[in-house]
Amino acid sequence: MRRAIKILSGSSHNEFALEVCQIMGLELCKSRTIKFSNDNMMPRIEENVRETDVFVIQTSTPPVSDNIIELLLMLDALKYASAGRITAVLPYFPYVRSDKKDQPRISIAARLMGHLIETAGASRLLTMNLHASQIQGFFDIPSDQLFATNIICQYFSQRDLSNYVIVAADVGESKHIGHYANILNLPIAIIDKRRQGNSDSIIPTTLIGDVVKKDCLIVDDEVSSGGTLTGATKFLMKNGAKSVSAAIVHGVLSGQAMAKIEASPLKELVITNSVPLPKQGYISPKIKVLSIAPLFAQAISHIHSGMSVSLLFAKDYVHQE
Ligand code: R5P
Repeated sequence: MRRAIKILSGSSHNEFALEVCQIMGLELCKSRTIKFSNDNMMPRIEENVRETDVFVIQTSTPPVSDNIIELLLMLDALKYASAGRITAVLPYFPYVRSDKKDQPRISIAARLMGHLIETAGASRLLTMNLHASQIQGFFDIPSDQLFATNIICQYFSQRDLSNYVIVAADVGESKHIGHYANILNLPIAIIDKRRQGNSDSIIPTTLIGDVVKKDCLIVDDEVSSGGTLTGATKFLMKNGAKSVSAAIVHGVLSGQAMAKIEASPLKELVITNSVPLPKQGYISPKIKVLSIAPLFAQAISHIHSGMSVSLLFAKDYVHQE
């Protein structure tokens, strides 16, 4: 007999969890997180989950540390409530950029996050566009990494792309832009950028490829402080580009990112709803948000019914609105 399925949401992105539930025709499983005056949290699952196939949705967004602790406590609560299988669903994985020991005496925090999630009770992970694919090797439990590539390409394929070139804003991203370039059948260009220490200050140095009088589409895994994106935009314009747009999976948009984007010559920024837009403050009209909830809903139902998840990566997989 197949286990019943339940979807739970932490506090980070309730709207996304509700959208996933609506697509799947499910009610969100009732839970509540109490925060005590000493800052301790107590999430409580308010439905029976014994032997159930449970999916807990929590993304990495401020308050990042609180959201991590809430997730760990929810996983632990589910484990002790005898859930049958627990999948941690992390549209944007916490500390994903801390994936290597590239300075002395630092933590490989993304690896630690994986271990904490597993220790707390997760039997598997579902996430999207990790900063580097080999991060999957940090986990000792099964993990599925989804990609927003097809959703983004479908959005851009609805316009005339004859003058477009796909641009990697740094050499790290140059490995990934090939997927976009293949699907959209476009040429590529690569910017060599240098970051000053651990600061948000970015210096684009060299450009490989032809961007003169071209409509450039920068593709990246995340926009955080906006330094890479706005630096690359100005650099491309200085090098003769006609226009610059961007398609970036995780719209983290921290600090002054929104103001930087607004003030830059960037024409359009397409992101996904893997993290919520800031609840307060100005949202630039240049930003367009594509929903990845249908992709996650499909992946969750494939995992639940034991179907292949890689089917969703097939080149001809088309996201239906
Ligand atoms: C870097 O390797 C990533 O691909 C992004 O370019 C980077 O994380 C963006 O960060 P920020 O917006 O702070 O420059």
